[in-house]
Amino acid sequence: MGIMVQEQAGLFHLQSSGMSYLIQIVNGYPVHVYWGGKLKHRERMEDLLLHTPNGAGLDRLPQEYPQYGSGDFRNPAYQAELADGTRITELKYVGCRTMKGKPALSGLPAVYTEDDAEADTLVLELKDSYSGLKVDLLYTIFADRNVIVRSVRLVNEGLNQLRLRRALSASVDFAEKRDMEITYLSGAWAREGNITRRPLLQGETRIDSKRGMSSHQFNPFAALVTPETSESHGEAYGFSLVYSGSFEAVAEVDSFGSTRLGMGVNAFDFAWQLSQGESFQTPEVVMVYSGQGLGEMSRTYHRLYRTRLCRGEYRDRERPILVNNWEATYFNFDADKLVSIAEEGAKLGIELFVLDDGWFGKRDADNSSLGDWYEDRRKLPGGLADVAERINKLGLQFGLWFEPEMISPDSELYRKHPDWCLHVPGRRRTEARWQLVLDYTRQEVRDYIYDSLTAIFTTVPVSYVKWDMNRALTEIGSAELPPERQSETAHRYVLGLYELLERITKAFPHILFESCSSGGGRFDPGMLYYMPQTWTSDNTDAVERLKIQYGTSLVYPISAIGAHVSAVPNHQVGRITSLEFRGNVAMSGNFGYELDLTKFTDEEKELVKEQAAAYKQIRGLVQQGDLYRLKSPFEGNESAWMFVSEDQEEALVYYFQVMAVPHAPRRSLRLAGLNPELEYEVQSSDSETTSTWGGDRLMQLGLHLPYKQKDYESGWFSVRAVGTNISDRA
Ligand code: DGJ
Repeated sequence: MGIMVQEQAGLFHLQSSGMSYLIQIVNGYPVHVYWGGKLKHRERMEDLLLHTPNGAGLDRLPQEYPQYGSGDFRNPAYQAELADGTRITELKYVGCRTMKGKPALSGLPAVYTEDDAEADTLVLELKDSYSGLKVDLLYTIFADRNVIVRSVRLVNEGLNQLRLRRALSASVDFAEKRDMEITYLSGAWAREGNITRRPLLQGETRIDSKRGMSSHQFNPFAALVTPETSESHGEAYGFSLVYSGSFEAVAEVDSFGSTRLGMGVNAFDFAWQLSQGESFQTPEVVMVYSGQGLGEMSRTYHRLYRTRLCRGEYRDRERPILVNNWEATYFNFDADKLVSIAEEGAKLGIELFVLDDGWFGKRDADNSSLGDWYEDRRKLPGGLADVAERINKLGLQFGLWFEPEMISPDSELYRKHPDWCLHVPGRRRTEARWQLVLDYTRQEVRDYIYDSLTAIFTTVPVSYVKWDMNRALTEIGSAELPPERQSETAHRYVLGLYELLERITKAFPHILFESCSSGGGRFDPGMLYYMPQTWTSDNTDAVERLKIQYGTSLVYPISAIGAHVSAVPNHQVGRITSLEFRGNVAMSGNFGYELDLTKFTDEEKELVKEQAAAYKQIRGLVQQGDLYRLKSPFEGNESAWMFVSEDQEEALVYYFQVMAVPHAPRRSLRLAGLNPELEYEVQSSDSETTSTWGGDRLMQLGLHLPYKQKDYESGWFSVRAVGTNISDRA
C-alpha cells in the first residue's frame, strides 16, 4: 500500500486498502490510467494502460491536469496568460517527489494526518519551459481509507509576469465510454441539501457558486455514479472541495463518451497575478471511491471529516444540548427574558444557552449595528457578562451569536470607515438584508474584528459562538488592491476569512464554534476545518428537515449537522407536528431547542426532559457512529436511518411517516451495518418488552414497522448485541 513509482515506465500506482489510482507519463503528459477498486501491484503494469488510438491528439488523451490550446477542446484544468498576451502553455513532466504523511496547505483548510504512517503524498512536477510556469500536482493517498486528496501549486519560475485565468484543484478523465450519472446537493435558502441526480449526456453539467460563498444553491460536492448505483451497491466517485467561496464542478461528456470532471475555485470572475517567484496554492479536493454505493461513500467522508478535517477540543467530544433564543424572541428580549428561558432549560437538562442576534449596538431589527460588537445596555443593563454569569449560575454554559463579516450602513463602524466594505468606487453598493460585506482582504479590517471579539471573549464567559454570514458578496472589489489584482478579491476574501478564523479559534480553543450562513449557505468542508459544527438550515420544520438532514449527510458527518426542535405552528412553513416527531428528527443530528421553553405545558416540559435525558444516552452513537440511510425522504412518504457503533455492538434506528396511510400495507425495515454473527436485543419505542434477533435476520428480513395511524408519526428501535448467534451458524 502507499505509492509505488516505476520510474522507467513513468508509472505511479497510488494504492489504499481498497482502491487504486494510476497515472502514467506519456510523451511528457501525466495521463490518467485508472481509478477504482484496488489492483494488486505488479512489476509490469504497462498492460493496464488504456490504449489511445494511434495518432490521436490531446483530445483523446485522459489527462491529470489538462491545458487548452494545443488540440484538447474539452474544459482545461488551468489557463495562464503570458506577458505577451498569449494563453498557450504546455506542461510536461520534469520530476516527482514522494513523502510520508500529508503536507499542510499554507493559509488553507485541509485534511490532515496525525501520524505520517496514515498517508503518503506524491508530488508530480510539471513545467512549461517557455514561460517558466511550474506546476506541482499533489496527491495524498490514505492507507486505510479509500480517499485521495488532490491540490495544485502553481509557481512562476519565469522572468515575466503570468496571469492565471483558471486554476482548478483537480481534473479526472474517465476515458471509457460508460453510462454515468451525476449526483449533487442543490437547493435554496431554507431548502438546502436536495439530492439531485441525473444522467450525464454529451455536453456539460455545471454546478457552481458565483456568490463568494459556497452557497445554499449548490454544495461544493458532486459524485459520479453508474445508473445502477444505490445506497448499498455500485460504484460512486465523490468529489468534495475544501473551500468556502465561489467554486465550480463541471462534468463534461465529449463526443467519444469520455467524461471529465473538473473542480476548484470558480474560474468565472477569477484571475491571479503571478509575479516572478510567486506561487498560487489551490484548495484541495477530497476524492472518495466506493464500490458499495453512496452509503459507503458517505461513511468514508464522515469518518475522515469528523476526525481528520475537524480540529480542536470539541472534535471528539460529545456536543452539548443547547437552547437558542432566535425563534423564541427574535430581536425582542431583555436580560430577564433570556434568563427565564435558561432557567427552564436548566430544569429540563439543557446544557448550553445561546444568545442569538440582537444583543449589540442598537439592533432592534435586522437593519442596523452589524460591526458594533458591544452590548446594548438598553436590553442588557448589567451587560453581557452579567447575563452570562446568571446563566452559568443556573448550570448552563453561555453561547453568543456574531456576524463578523458584515457591516450595516447604519452602524458606528460604517460611519467611521465607509470604505471598509467590499465595493467598487463610483458604483452602487448593493445591500442585502440591509447590510454590506466587510472587506476581509484587508488586514486592518480583520484585526478590528479580532480585537472586538477578543474584548468580549476575555471579559464574558463565552463557551460557544455561532458565526453567522447572511448575504452573498456583490460589487466584489477592494479599495486596497491595484487594478490588475481586483479579480483576486473574491478568493482573497476567503483567504482573509481563513486567516482570521485560524487566529481566533487558536486563541480561544475552549470555545465551541458553530458556523452558519442563513442556515446552510456555507455548509462546506472549509468551514468545518475551523468550526466542527454547522447550523444546517433556517428551516426548522421537522418534515422539511427529513430531507435537509438526509441530503446533507451525503457528505457531512452527523456531529456537524445542527438540528433543533422549534415551536409549532412552524415559523417557516406553518406546519404542526408533534413534539415527539420534532424530537426524533432533531435527535438524529446535533441536538438542541430553538423556542421559548417557558411557554411549554407541564406535559411538554416532561417530554423535553425525557428527550434531553435520552439524547445524553445516545449522542455518542449518533454523533460518532456510522450512519446507514435506510429509506429516503426524497423517494416516498417514509424515511429511516440508523447509527451503528464502530464495534457493531450497538445501533439506533429512527423511522418517520409523513402522511398517514389508511388501511396500510404491512411494512418492514431492513437494517444495515450490523454483524450477522451476533444476536441483538431490540427495544422498540412502541413496546415495553424487548425481543432478540440475529444480525442476519435483522438485515435480511428486517423489523416489522408498527402501524402509525396519524400524520407525522415516528419511532425508534434500540439495538444492542447480547452475544454470538449460536443457534444457526451455517
Ligand atoms: C440567520 C441564522 O441562520 C439564524 O439562525 C439566526 O441566527 C439569524 N440569522 C439571526 O439574524
